[in-house]
Amino acid sequence: MYRIGIDLGGTNIAVGVVNDRYEIVARRSVPTGAERPAEEVIRDMGDAVEEALRQAGLTAVDCASMGVGSPGACDPQTGVVKRAYNLNWFDVPVCRMLHQRFGIPVRLGNDANCAALAEVVAGAAVGCQDMVLITLGTGVGSGIISRGKILSGLRGGAGEAGHMLLVLDGEPCTCGRRGCLEAYASATGLIRSTKEAMEAFPDSLMWELARENGGNVSGRTAFLAAGRGDAAAQAVVNDYIQHLGYGLASIINILAPEILVIGGGVSNEGENLLRPLVECVRPQLYIRTPEKQTRIALATLGNDAGLIGAAFLSRAQ
Ligand code: BGC
Repeated sequence: MYRIGIDLGGTNIAVGVVNDRYEIVARRSVPTGAERPAEEVIRDMGDAVEEALRQAGLTAVDCASMGVGSPGACDPQTGVVKRAYNLNWFDVPVCRMLHQRFGIPVRLGNDANCAALAEVVAGAAVGCQDMVLITLGTGVGSGIISRGKILSGLRGGAGEAGHMLLVLDGEPCTCGRRGCLEAYASATGLIRSTKEAMEAFPDSLMWELARENGGNVSGRTAFLAAGRGDAAAQAVVNDYIQHLGYGLASIINILAPEILVIGGGVSNEGENLLRPLVECVRPQLYIRTPEKQTRIALATLGNDAGLIGAAFLSRAQ
């Protein structure tokens, strides 16, 4: 049996047809398009589903269900995206609209919850009953699996670790507050502090790397320059890792998962991120006995995690 997974991101919508072995047999990706009405985005989403089905030689009736992973507070009961600041979506009944078009059951979940689910069934956390996944992308998302189930809280609003307070009166966050973990540990936050350091250090190698990247500063700029010995870039990376590490330590101290998995674009830095991060987190943990400590690992499903998890929401909720 097949399932359809949709990962709704701020810039792209990834759609895939997934088989029972968690493999994506056909996929499509379309731009989300900033500032467009939700109806238009959902229509494009549906067109992408049809194209992916055609590519797989299937129709909707060959699929057990469809699942949508969206940023923000998603009510799994009603299938409504309650509030997603990164999309500017408020009270959007995405499940009803897709069900009307395709006639199969449609489920909704937070994007990071979906990614957590996928890492538990087919990725870095296979076999774990208690895990947390943190995605470091445009925003900071988190999915919490407790006793094998997604912790969804009241109307699906749980697990917004990206919006826990890290710095009192700190940097502004997309949610309207200041000092959230997301404002420092997202790729967006990393890019902001990279640009600030570039202004302060006109001789930094970061300028050259940004020029080579078509004039764009990315989440990789500081990591790359630090790897080549640039002191200003190393300070940006250290500061990034320290903020992220302090946030992760609090998450571990509250939930004590077996494993904390790091995903999202910034996690592509691999060991250059993981090694110093673990060193930063360890001394801050309440539980200091090494054999009882949470393992910190990189996600293994990469960008496909959200899509695969969304496809299997019907089995998890
Ligand atoms: C949202 C989360 C989402 C994350 C990643 C955050 O800004 O609040 O719900 O999981 O971005 O998309």
